[in-house]
Order: sequence, then C-alpha cells, then structure tokens
Amino acid sequence: RGRREEARELSRARASGEFKCKNFESLVISIKKPIGKVKRIAFLGAGKRKSMSVDLWRRLMSAAVIISRKACYAKVAFLCDEAGERVVQALVEGAYLGNFNSGSYKTKKTGFGWVKSIELVVTRQVPRKKMKALEAGVKRGCVFGEYTNVARSLVNEPSNILTPRTLANRAEKYGIGAGLAVDILGEDEIRDLNMGLVLGVAQGSSEPPRVVVMKHNPPGIRGGPVLGFVGKGVTFDTGGISIKPANNMDKMKGDMAGAAAVIGAMCILSELKAPVRAIGIIPAAENMLGANALNPGDVLRSASGKTVEVLNTDAEGRLLLGDGIWYAQELGATHLVDIATLTGACVVALGNTTSGLFGTPGWWVDQIELASTRAGDRSWQLPVFEDYSEALKSEIADFANIGGREAGAITAALFIKEFVDELPWGHLDIAGTSWAEEQQPYQLKGATGTAVRTLAELALNV
Ligand code: BES
Ligand code: ZN
Ligand code: ZN
Repeated sequence: RGRREEARELSRARASGEFKCKNFESLVISIKKPIGKVKRIAFLGAGKRKSMSVDLWRRLMSAAVIISRKACYAKVAFLCDEAGERVVQALVEGAYLGNFNSGSYKTKKTGFGWVKSIELVVTRQVPRKKMKALEAGVKRGCVFGEYTNVARSLVNEPSNILTPRTLANRAEKYGIGAGLAVDILGEDEIRDLNMGLVLGVAQGSSEPPRVVVMKHNPPGIRGGPVLGFVGKGVTFDTGGISIKPANNMDKMKGDMAGAAAVIGAMCILSELKAPVRAIGIIPAAENMLGANALNPGDVLRSASGKTVEVLNTDAEGRLLLGDGIWYAQELGATHLVDIATLTGACVVALGNTTSGLFGTPGWWVDQIELASTRAGDRSWQLPVFEDYSEALKSEIADFANIGGREAGAITAALFIKEFVDELPWGHLDIAGTSWAEEQQPYQLKGATGTAVRTLAELALNV
C-alpha cells in the first residue's frame, strides 16, 4: 500500500509499462528490508478484477509454481484475496499441476527444482465457521491434483513400457491403493464375453488386450445412479494397415489418455468416499499392423451382437468403446460417459484447448459440461443428430466404422451411440486436449490429465 519500498517499485513498474498486469505476467522484486524470511516477492498479473474466475485462480497458482521451480524457490507463500471453497480447491489443484515432472528417462539430472511447500495466505478475514469448508476444499484439491498427475504420468509413459498389460497392472495398483475393487480380464475372458471389437483391434499386435473393471461401491448406497465411465486405452496407435504417416506418430503413445482419465477419476471417488456408485471400464489394446492384423473391409461381431465393417483400421478407438460401453451396461451402469482421444477431426474443429462433448439427452450432456467447467477442463457441445448416422452405412455389415470426410468427430460419436441402449450417455473427445504441444505459463508440456477432474466433479455432483 505504498508504505514499503517494494510497493513503490510495483507502482513505478505499472506506471512505466514494464508490468502491465496481463494474465500470468510476472514481476519479481527483491526485498531490501527483510520481512521475516521473505527474500523475494513475485507479483503475478491477473488481468481485470471482473474477469477473475475459479479457473484463473487455478492457472495462476500453477503459473506461480512453475515460476518458482524455474528459479529454484523451494518454499513459497501464495497470497490471494479470495477464499471460497471452490477457489481454494482450484488453487491446490493448480499447485499440483505446476509441480509435476513427466517422468524422465534421462540419466543426468535436468529440469526444474521442486516446490517443497506452499503456504496459502488469504489476505482477508475468513469467518471461523467457513474454515471447515476451506479445509474440505484443500483436501479435495490435493486428491484431485494428485490423481490428475497420476493420469499424466501414465500418458507420458512410452508404449514399450506401457503395454495393455502394464496399463492394466497400473490401473490395478492405483485402484487398489485408493480402495477400489479392480478386475482385469485377460484374453480368454474377453473371448468368453464375445468382445469381437476389442479382439479385432488387438489381433495385429503381439501384446494381448486387456479389459480393466474398476468398481467404486460405497457402503450403504443402494439406490441412485450407477455411473459407467469407459476410457479408450490404445497404448499405441500405428493406425494398423491403414497406417498413419511417420510425422508425430510418437504422440500415439498417448492414445490411452481416456483410460488414464478413468483411472484417475475412479481413484478420486474412492479416496473421497464419494456417495455414488461408479464403474470404470478400460478396454486396452495396441493397434499394430502385421500378418495377423485386421484388413480394411474385415467384418467384426461385437459383444452386443451388432456387426461392423472395418473400412479403416485407424478408426480403432470407437471399436474398443463399442464393446466397453456394452460391458458397462452389462455390469449395471445407468448413466454413461466415454472418454477418448478419438478423432483428428475434433482437433480441427476445436483445437488444443477444448474437448468435444457429445451425447444425449441434453440435461445429461449439460451436466457433464458443467462438471468440465468446474474442473477447468474446457469442453464444447457438438450435435449428434440422427441424420449423421447415414454416413456409417455398410454394404455388408450393420454399419461401418468410418463416415465420410465431413463431420468426422460427430460420425465417430454416432458410431459409439449405436452401442448405447437408451441410457443417458455422454462422450468426450480429448484428442486435442490430452497433450500440450507447447508450454504455457500455466501449463507444462506433455500430458495434461484432461477429463480426470471432469469425471470426478460429475460424480460428486450427480
Ligand atoms: N487416435 C486417433 C485420433 C487422434 C488424432 C488422437 C490426433 C490424438 C491426436 C484415432 O484412432 C484415429 O486415428 N482417428 C482417425 C479416424 C479416421 C480414420 C476416421 C482420424 O481422426 O484420422
Ligand atoms: Zn487410430
Ligand atoms: Zn486411436
């Protein structure tokens, strides 16, 4: 407030235009007369007061942590003048998001330091009776942040390490650690269930498929919805015989980000003892080409009995999801959401910041959208009008696995819808949002952990 030299320096920087207070812009000032152990003050721009939001708080904290790590500040305090339960949760999430290392295989130590402790200082009187709520916000933020990072580390893992078998084992490890019941179906069990679509995708690879079932069954909860989360778990997508170009094919190690989101979210529900039943299904396979691989034109029979002509072996995610959705319903799910790095078309439509959101009926899709807003995972609704299904017609089977060139993200969603029996169903296409190609002030490069918190927020608010 102008009393100290540092405050005057901030005013000077504002006046000269050195510090414009734009979002994430920072100004670091060294302390001349020490205040306790404080050595530096970093001012972080947050734009205009009226455009402040919970998500901006989340991002500001993440940016603050990234700045601190670059400068090797291990112990920091974050001062803010807002302290709702949601703001506090978001701030803690932001701290986790910034304090993440993608799991490097470099043999020499590189990169940023770690922030070891963060003191959250609210520069406003908080009524005593609000403290409990704030503590709950901190707790939730820790769990949400921790499991978002679990999902990120799975997505970052290369495909020679993270095969369908390892993905299943990790799901089991994290799931049991969090208190879930986890079941891994092997090839024989997958065959016994007639999951021809899963087997078809996997048949070109020497790595056998897996289907993981994670159950959150809180004691005392009888009625109410049973959420079914189905995540695409393609541990590497070469495209199969319809092979992808070499450029950026390495990114296809992340084609299991939907599966990672389901694992993260299911663990959160268990850790927080969410009062709702939920089932997570992860159909996992590697999409390879080889002597045993699917050929374009091959026909598969799904577990639901419907037949599919595989016109393009690169449209494999929807095949896994078809059988996965069927199984979620078999196990008693009443409300479905599937999550998948499904189409390049969705990236063309919405870019890298926003996931495509599809489904029916509208109130259920709206609820997912609300959850994604709360989570700071952006999503935007696209339509699933029946007419679009025309594009999927096949001469020889019930339908084909691709539509035409147009509306590719939508026809993919409509393919999945063929396996939904009149339940509320939503579909998140995270092809563009699961991986950050460039670093942002508030976001590290690599896996983002998108949709983990969306699913958890959804479940905590149904
Ligand atoms: N895994 C890809 C989609 C993808 C693209 C994810 C870019 C992440 C970044 C998916 O299996 C795929 O290959 N989809 C095809 C579908 C097409 C053949 C109808 C696509 O989008 O090109
Ligand atoms: Zn593909
Ligand atoms: Zn794929």
